[in-house]
Amino acid sequence: MSRRAPGTPSFEELSSSPKLGLGLRTQIVLALSVAFVASFTLLGVATVRITDRAGGIERERAAEASARVLASALDGLAEERSRNAPILAQALLEDGSVAGVEVAWPGIEADAWGLVGHRPSAVAPMARGGEVRVHLRPTTGGRPGSDLLLLYVAFTGGAILLLAYVALTHLIVRPLSALTASSERLAAGRSHVEVPVGGAAEVARLAVSFNRMAAQLRAEQSALEARLGELQATTSELESAQDQLVRSERLASVGRLSAGVAHEIGNPLAAILGLIELARDEELPADERAEFMARIQNETERINRIIRDLLDFSRRGQDADQAEGAARESSDVAEAVADAASLIAPQKDLGRVTIERRVADGLPRVQGAADSLVQIVLNLLLNAADAIDGEGTILIEVSRHPDDDDRVRVMVSDTGPGIDPAILPNLFEPFVTSKPAGEGTGLGLAVTLALVERLRGTITAENDPEGGARFVVDLPAEPGTA
Ligand SMILES: Nc1ncnc2c1ncn2[C@@H]1O[C@H](COP(=O)(O)OP(=O)(O)O)[C@@H](O)[C@H]1O
Ligand SMILES: [Mg+2]
Repeated sequence: MSRRAPGTPSFEELSSSPKLGLGLRTQIVLALSVAFVASFTLLGVATVRITDRAGGIERERAAEASARVLASALDGLAEERSRNAPILAQALLEDGSVAGVEVAWPGIEADAWGLVGHRPSAVAPMARGGEVRVHLRPTTGGRPGSDLLLLYVAFTGGAILLLAYVALTHLIVRPLSALTASSERLAAGRSHVEVPVGGAAEVARLAVSFNRMAAQLRAEQSALEARLGELQATTSELESAQDQLVRSERLASVGRLSAGVAHEIGNPLAAILGLIELARDEELPADERAEFMARIQNETERINRIIRDLLDFSRRGQDADQAEGAARESSDVAEAVADAASLIAPQKDLGRVTIERRVADGLPRVQGAADSLVQIVLNLLLNAADAIDGEGTILIEVSRHPDDDDRVRVMVSDTGPGIDPAILPNLFEPFVTSKPAGEGTGLGLAVTLALVERLRGTITAENDPEGGARFVVDLPAEPGTA
């Protein structure tokens, strides 16, 4: 599960995103506030401007009407007009919006009541010359209409903001938070994760596909688990099959061994039985009887040899304690080689076989008892002597392993005809022999292999391309002496 392509960030790296911006809610509120403030400020300013302008026009019209009324009233009064003008002007002044009234008589100075400025708000001509000027009070603050409007704008803006906030929270923010929480749970390894489908269509679709993805993940996970279970079952089946194979292999080798024993012992036994039958003949000449007896003895010795070899071979299965005991001893390889060479000399007709020894200096002792080591070398020497069958040389080389300082190598090579390729693959199995019955049991190399393995070493056999056989035995050095 934890296998990742190089360069792919881990879950921890992915989940701790270092720079997170503002939350969705805050961002939405900020954006909406900016948008509403901008648009409603513009709207408010425009509305105030428009109402101001409308109010101004109305005031101007009212001032014009007042001026015209006064002018026509003064026209109607004819000669009396200058006497009555103050009364009429005063009446106009009573209207709160009029600040001052001027009446300009033709030819003489103008009369003025109230406050008059440079520019009148309205001017009306009189029929007999002169004009009436009306001055309005300047508008001071207090625009109740626009204040109301601003209040309305602020209230509406706030309400829309609140509404938008609630709607967005409901449609987007809350479903998205649920989705985020669920995907975090999924990423943390929880398999049963489901988000409620809701909110805006896009968000709801996202939730649906998230649920589908989670379900698929769940399905894949359980498929994987099922596969794992199958694999485990297969593995245990394989293991039991292997056990069975080992058992049947062991049975087969027991069978092979018994067949070999039966054959090896059966032949001399049959010969012995035949010879005894012949020797029973009372009229048999004494010298013939003596010859039969000698042959019976020969065959019996052969059986004896086979049984001894078999006993040696069966030591392969000895209990581990004894093997360990042997391994705890140590022995000098050069000495063992010398012993084996001296043992073989009287045993065989070695008149024309030269045994050469090359032993390197300063070799470590090897693990194991010396007699095992002597037996190993002796078996190899006997085989080599058998193979040479005439004139030849056996070379025993003892050296350090070329690649491993903690091992000693014993190499036995000869100038014989080499190992028969037909038996080379099974050379170390019991009863594999190329020798005629009575000469070889085929147990020598099997015993040798068992001894080498008891010393925790290895043995290999090969044919030298230049002729002759070569056996290489590698043995572990005694710890601390290498
Ligand atoms: N040095 C050798 N040169 C050629 N063949 C050999 C040599 N050593 C062993 N062999 C072959 O291996 C066979 C098995 O040897 P071994 O297990 O000692 O049984 P045996 O000597 O009783 O035949 C021999 O019969 C022989 O064919
Ligand atoms: Mg042999």
